Amino acid sequence: MYFIGVDLGTSAVKLLLMEESGKICGSVSREYPLYFPQPGWSEQKPEDWWDAVCDGMKELLAGIDGKEVGGISFGGQMHGLVILDENDEVIRPAILWNDGRTQKQVDYLNNEIGKDKLSSYTANIAFAGFTAPKLLWVKENEPDNFARIRKIMLPKDYIAYKLSGTHCCDYSDASGMLLLDVKNRCWSKEMLEICDVKEEQMPKLFESYEVVGTLKPELAEAFGMSKDCKIAAGAGDNAAGAVGTGTVGDGQCTISLGTSGTIFISSEKFGVDENNALHAFAHADGHYHLMGCMLSAASCNKWWMEEIIGTKDFAGEQENITKLGENHVFFLPYLMGERSPHNNPMARGTFIGMTMDTSRADMTQAVLEGVAFALRDSLEVARKLGIPITRTKICGGGAKSPLWRKIIANVLNLKVDVIEAEEGPGMGGAMLAAVACGVYDSVEDAAAKIVRVVKTIEPEPELVEKYEDRYRKFAQIYPTVKGLFDTVTI
Ligand code: XUL
Repeated sequence: MYFIGVDLGTSAVKLLLMEESGKICGSVSREYPLYFPQPGWSEQKPEDWWDAVCDGMKELLAGIDGKEVGGISFGGQMHGLVILDENDEVIRPAILWNDGRTQKQVDYLNNEIGKDKLSSYTANIAFAGFTAPKLLWVKENEPDNFARIRKIMLPKDYIAYKLSGTHCCDYSDASGMLLLDVKNRCWSKEMLEICDVKEEQMPKLFESYEVVGTLKPELAEAFGMSKDCKIAAGAGDNAAGAVGTGTVGDGQCTISLGTSGTIFISSEKFGVDENNALHAFAHADGHYHLMGCMLSAASCNKWWMEEIIGTKDFAGEQENITKLGENHVFFLPYLMGERSPHNNPMARGTFIGMTMDTSRADMTQAVLEGVAFALRDSLEVARKLGIPITRTKICGGGAKSPLWRKIIANVLNLKVDVIEAEEGPGMGGAMLAAVACGVYDSVEDAAAKIVRVVKTIEPEPELVEKYEDRYRKFAQIYPTVKGLFDTVTI
């Protein structure tokens, strides 16, 4: 039997075909546009996601008997607001996780409703990318659209709905809506009331590894698949990525270097960072996790390489970086504002420290290091909570760079375990489908049997010391320039 993992990302959807044993036997990717209608806004069309999934599915299944696919599940970009009307038509483009338009609604939630109440209802406070402030934004700015809403869902749930007809969501992804009572795994009545939505507009909740339905017969026919193919709820991309890297159970850590950058710490028990700098979310293994999320990670490097210096040869540029720990240039990676730990949509990317002898390689290095320093900001919050973290897994596009992995290991002073299949969310999605179909007893069981570490990058004491000094300097820059972001940026 085969299983399909759908990784619904921000730049593309990746479909992954996995055998029962966990062996990957195919993958395809389809890109779609990302729209920035105003500075700091970020939108995509759910219809584009669906077309890309359908198109990719045909290529993925070429050469195998589609009827052998037992299940499909997902890892999806989190927090995006997808709204459908009474005819199941998409009302407006989805407002994505890295959209910063909701500052006013975030201020209302955090300051007028109050962080304490929000945290007691949901285990989290409001951040601009979360879904609840977006609902308030639509209500205030597009009242006609708000009045037409019949179904509210997250990006991957739109695909699950199109495939199965079930309006569903899993607990990990629902955690990022600020509408879920994370601890008790149910919708928060108080938050639904604050956002003026009814429970019948919300998706039915499932564990990530639960079956929500089967493939619609007409789609089974079109894809050459069985109408008994199961659709499992899946997870937010970070929780799915954590499953794919075997970050399940208690006290495990994984870092994702994708469009966003996250540090994800699994936990068997529910727990909240009392300052709410880290998100307290449900995990796809049935338990919980804490997570810090930076809004621009590998996307900073992509922006620097492709838009600014004009090259696609990322590896070639990195070959010229030879002096780790000795760069005088710093980069604040806040190209889309920042979530963890600053919670400031107005923050912006910043280079500082250049001199006449600064080279192109120094600037590239500063970008890679800036992302690592910003991840360390979240790790420091976890360390202050007393969580002992000494090693991490790593996934996402940026994790393919050996140099970046080495920078991460030394800036964060963590052993970095590289795994055989660093497919992250796609792999996690396929594993969740296999668990839903009963091939594995639990998510932990699937992770233990499928995920293999192939090498470990050890931090080097001398480099760790140099980076400690650089990090202390980096940590002073944001508080110093913070006030400027409100006045010099629009
Ligand atoms: C997590 C977050 C991002 C997106 C990226 O809170 O916003 O990691 O899930 O797809």
